[in-house]
Amino acid sequence: MLIRTLMILVASLALFACRGGTSTSPPVHLVLDMDFQPKLKAQSASAFDGWADGRAMRLPVTDSQSRVSVVARGSLPDPILMPDPNKAGKNVDGTWLKNPLPLTNEVLERGRERFDINCSVCHGYSGQGGNGAQAHGMVGRRWPVVIPNFHVVEGKDNRVANLTDGEIFEVLSSPVGKNTMPSYAARITVIDRWAIIHYVRALQTLGKQ
Ligand code: HEC
Repeated sequence: MLIRTLMILVASLALFACRGGTSTSPPVHLVLDMDFQPKLKAQSASAFDGWADGRAMRLPVTDSQSRVSVVARGSLPDPILMPDPNKAGKNVDGTWLKNPLPLTNEVLERGRERFDINCSVCHGYSGQGGNGAQAHGMVGRRWPVVIPNFHVVEGKDNRVANLTDGEIFEVLSSPVGKNTMPSYAARITVIDRWAIIHYVRALQTLGKQ
C-alpha cells in the first residue's frame, strides 16, 4: 500500500511539478539530432580568416556570372553551339542557325538515344506523332493532345516538318516549352539538343518507319 502511494506521488510530481515554472538554464537535450553543428547563418558575420570582409554570405567569384544565371555542368555558354544565349537558335545577327555540331556516327547515335528517351513518348520513334489509335507516340494514343509530324505529308500543313535547325533548337531551349510540350532547357544539354536535331533530320531523310 505504501509503495503504491509513493508511486502515485512520484508520478504526479513528475506530471505537475514543472507546470508554469520558468528556467534560465537550457533544456536537457537528450537527443541532439542536428541542433548543434558548426555553420554560418545567413546575414551574419564570420570569423574565418580567409575571408577578409568578414561576411558569412559569399559573393559569386569574379567573372563567374554570365547572362545565363544558372549554368549546368556541360552547358557553359558556347559561342559556336549557342552564339546568343538570349536568342537560342539564332546567330548574333538574328538569322537562324544551321546545326553547328559536326555530323558523325557518334553524334547521330547520341541523337538517336536522346530522341528515343526524351521525344519518342510523344512524337513516336518515327517522329510522326499524331493522335488517336493511329498515333505513333503513346501520349497521342492516350490523350487528346495534338502532336505534330516531323515528316512532310502531301496536302497537309507541313510547317513543323519544314522548321529550320535553329527553330527546332529554339523550341528545345525554351524555358517554358511550347504549349503542351514541356521545356527541355534544363533537361537536355545544348550539345545534345543539336545531336537530337541531326537525328530528326536523319528520320526525315530516311522517311517514316
Ligand atoms: C510530352 C509530350 C512531348 C514530348 C516528350 C516532346 N514533345 Fe515536341 N511537341 C509536343 C506537342 C504537344 C507539340 C505541339 C505544341 C503546340 O501545340 O504547338 C510539340 C511540338 C514540337 C515541335 C514543333 C514546334 C513548333 O514550332 O510548332 C518540335 C520541333 C518538337 N516538338 C520537337 C520535340 C523534340 C525534339 C522532343 C524531344 C527532345 C520533343 N519534341 C518532345 C509534345 C511533346
